Formats: sequence, C-alpha cells, structure tokens
Amino acid sequence: MQEKRLQLSFTSTHFGELSELEQELIEKAKSAFTTAYAPYSGFLVGASVLLDNGEIVNGSNQENVAYPSGLCAERVALFYAGARFPEAKIKAIAVSVTSKNFKVSDVISPCGACRQVMAEYEDKQLEAIKVILHSPTNEVLIANKVEDLLPFMFRSPLLKKH
Ligand code: THU
Repeated sequence: MQEKRLQLSFTSTHFGELSELEQELIEKAKSAFTTAYAPYSGFLVGASVLLDNGEIVNGSNQENVAYPSGLCAERVALFYAGARFPEAKIKAIAVSVTSKNFKVSDVISPCGACRQVMAEYEDKQLEAIKVILHSPTNEVLIANKVEDLLPFMFRSPLLKKH
C-alpha cells in the first residue's frame, strides 16, 4: 500500500492587497449580487468572470419556488460567458456575497456543482482559472487553479489531458 499526499494551495489576503484588475472584478461581483433573485434564501451571490478578450461577464443566483430549478451565481456567470464568448478563455472568476437575514463574515465557498463546472472549463481550455472568493469584511481567499478546489474531479474523457 502506498499513501499519496495531495498539495492544495490557497492564498489568504485582503481586498486592498489585490491588483487593480482583481479589485475591479470583485467590485463587479458585488454589483452583480444586487441583481440576485433570492426570495427564498435571502442569500445574494454575485460572480464575475474575466475573459482573455478583456470582457467581464457577470451573474447572480436565480432561485425558483421549485428549489432545485434555481442556479448559483457562479454557474449563471460561467454559462453566460460560455454562451456569449464560446472561443474565449476564462482567466478568473470572482465571487462575492451578502445576506438579507444574517451577517456573513466568511468568504463565499462555491458549492460542489459549481466547482465541477469551473473545473471542466479549466480542462477544456488547458489553462488555469483563478478563483477569487470575497467576504463582506473584505477578506479574500484565492485559488490559482480550480483543481485546488476539486481534486479528483469527474473528468470528461473527451478532454483527456492526463
Ligand atoms: N449560492 C450561490 O449562488 N453560490 C454559492 O457559491 C453558494 C450558494 C446560492 C444558491 C441559493 O440561491 C442561495 O445561494 C442559498 O444557498
């Protein structure tokens, strides 16, 4: 038997320490959460996707009374980016959050389904996507690649690179 260890890497920082572009991306994610349709959870999430053509595409969570029919902000933004700019590569995604019902002090951490979607785009484009997670207290957690958020992901055999 052989034990294998994985090394996952994250950077913990503060909004003020980020580059101008990263700050802009977070500001866009904050604007995006004001467009959330979240009457059931009161949890407003915004996501902004930076593309290699310079475009920024925003999304917010969209809920539905048939709960599983709703979609998280990250997937709304990623699918929107894929639909509008199918040839563009994704450089980064920033996610920010606020709640109508309680104080949020931690960074938002994307759900498993959103990680899976991010990870497949990363596989497809053969280039890392930076994930920038932002808290209402301006704490920031960065993963330089989605793989760090979803090791051993389910991979498409059509996108074989390993
Ligand atoms: N949500 C997101 O949009 N992104 C996340 O990373 C976590 C959760 C949404 C889904 C639902 O509309 C609400 O937040 C509460 O879970």
